[in-house]
Amino acid sequence: MADKNNKMKRRTFLSSLVVGWAAFTAAAAAGAGAVNRFMYPNVTYEPPLVVKAGKPDLYELGMVDERFKDSDGVWIVRDEEGLYALISICTHLGCTPNWFTADQKFKCPCHGSGFRKTGINYEGPAPRPLERAKIVLDENGEIVIDKGTKFLYEKGQWEDPEARILLS
Ligand code: FES
Repeated sequence: MADKNNKMKRRTFLSSLVVGWAAFTAAAAAGAGAVNRFMYPNVTYEPPLVVKAGKPDLYELGMVDERFKDSDGVWIVRDEEGLYALISICTHLGCTPNWFTADQKFKCPCHGSGFRKTGINYEGPAPRPLERAKIVLDENGEIVIDKGTKFLYEKGQWEDPEARILLS
């Protein structure tokens, strides 16, 4: 009888040991994950919201200027009326379209949406035009683009005076 009791106690002790070890391992893994997140935080690169883009005469009539696309996420377009800034984010799922001068269109590499030079969507799954950013001249006559203020075509906001710089 005493032998049977001893076996039961030993089995209970071993079970407790296994449960304790499993709990310790889980806690250690969670702690290591927390330390890892602290040491290597998720930092995403966000282009600056305000872009200084020089004088208007840097931009040729009819051109889509790509010099701020990679660094700041905008194209600057010069047409007969003046300048506007298109934000280079596809309105489908957020990929970056490419400008094709020969075809005079922006084409998204992800699912094939196409946008005209104005930013109006005309093919593929994009549900609406590209967005435009606020564009004004500062006191020195230099172009300032503020991506913190966006203008949406479907809300009639492209008519806003800050959605375009008028040039004679
Ligand atoms: Fe551009 Fe889908 S993200 S077409």
